[in-house]
Amino acid sequence: MIERLREWGNSHTRRGRYSPIGIIFHWVMALLILFQIGWGFWTDWMMPGGDKVFAYQVHSAAGLPVLLLGVARLAWRILISDPINDADRPGLQSKIAHWTAMTFYVVFFTLPVSGWFMWSSVAAPGPLYLGGIVPWPQVPLSSLDPITQYAILDLAEDVHIASVILLLLLIPAHAGAALKHHFWDRHDVLRAMLPEVPDWEGHRRAVPPNRPTTPPLPKGSEAG
Ligand code: HEM
Ligand code: HEM
Repeated sequence: MIERLREWGNSHTRRGRYSPIGIIFHWVMALLILFQIGWGFWTDWMMPGGDKVFAYQVHSAAGLPVLLLGVARLAWRILISDPINDADRPGLQSKIAHWTAMTFYVVFFTLPVSGWFMWSSVAAPGPLYLGGIVPWPQVPLSSLDPITQYAILDLAEDVHIASVILLLLLIPAHAGAALKHHFWDRHDVLRAMLPEVPDWEGHRRAVPPNRPTTPPLPKGSEAG
């Protein structure tokens, strides 16, 4: 079963594309995280009261799935290798892109886990639900003395906000780089992360149209 899944996934990555599962993970999580950033700041800015507690309940219900999706996505990434595309050239840019992706994976854990700890320390604002439906336990912190609980709350808050700041720096850089590759360099990088549309004959393209099919000429040999 795992072997067949791996073979299916790699049949896409060998053609320089992410598999449909990889693409679904990417866009579902990207939308969820962008929503959470906006909703989180909006909730933070609200006046204290019933609406604010409800808004935090929505925030926690929508944020907890990021943890499960992050675990599943990491397992998928370990199972299925990434495609080699026009962005994979030796140099600083590829290294930065690689470290950006790794940092995103770290944040997929630090954000929901720190939120979970914040929610569970001191005076928890109510029960937790995954996606607003499935009951989710609190971290058992109530047996700890209040000073330790406040210290945990403080640390979890710092981790939450540091993760948000990382995202606010990395998402524009990451999306900007993807758009630059696509519109400026005419690379196949963004297309690899978009759903594949069969052409009018119903075939999938083996090689994206603007992907170089011949290796570039060595430096200096173009002239003459
Ligand atoms: C991908 C997931 C998440 C993102 C992007 C996110 C983002 C944010 C943002 C932007 C804020 C406002 C800035 C701040 O005060 O730090 C915030 C606050 C908060 N979030 Fe999240 N969050 C996520 C997951 C969660 C989860 C799963 C929970 C609870 C189980 C949670 C609980 C909280 C709480 C309690 C605050 C208020 C912190 C305070 O007032 O200091 N968050 N979050
Ligand atoms: C919250 C927002 C986002 C997050 C957390 C995120 C995260 C990631 C991660 C972790 C990867 C590595 C591949 C993987 O493991 O799936 C990736 C790849 C990619 N992302 Fe995003 N992404 C976000 C938004 C965007 C946006 C808005 C765009 C387009 C404008 C974009 C375009 C791409 C592309 C083209 C790749 C493939 C890069 C390559 O193959 O070298 N991402 N993204």
